Amino acid sequence: MTLGNRIEVMHGVNLDQLGRRDPAHYGGISFADLERQVSEMGAELSLETRFFQTNHEGEFVEHLHRLEGLTDGIVLNPGAWTHYSYAIRDALELTGLPAVEIHLSDIESRESWRRQSVIGELCVARVSGKGVAGYREALERLKAELQG
Ligand code: DQA
Repeated sequence: MTLGNRIEVMHGVNLDQLGRRDPAHYGGISFADLERQVSEMGAELSLETRFFQTNHEGEFVEHLHRLEGLTDGIVLNPGAWTHYSYAIRDALELTGLPAVEIHLSDIESRESWRRQSVIGELCVARVSGKGVAGYREALERLKAELQG
C-alpha cells in the first residue's frame, strides 16, 4: 500500500502581503519566506508539498474542487475567510480530504469575531498562535493522519 505524502498548502486572502502585516501578530516574515520554510519542513518530513495562494474566494473554492486525486491532505490558512466563508467550508467538505487548519496568530486571543472558525469542525486539527513553527506541527499532524 502506498502511504499518502502529498500535501496541498493553501493560503487565502491577504496572506500574500504577510511582510506588510502587523509583526506583533505575524512575526514580520515575508510570504515567500513562509512558503520556503514550509516546503523545507515538508521535505524533512518526507512530504511532498504544493502551494497555492489567492485573494479571490471563488478561486480558492475552485482550487479545492480540483484537488481530487491530486493530493492526500490539505493544510489551510484561509485568512479572514476562516471566520465566515461557508462557501469555502462547503468546498472543503466535498473534497473529503483530511485537513489541518493553521493560523500564524492566536485567533482565540484576538478580536471576538476571530474566535469563530467555520471550517474547524471539518478539520482533524487546528494549530494557532505558533507562528511559522506551527506549520511543522500541522504537517506532522497530517502525516500522522495519513500514515498512522
Ligand atoms: C490568520 C488569522 C486571521 O484571523 C486573519 O484574518 C488572517 C491570518 C493567521 O494566520 O493568523 O489573515 O489566518
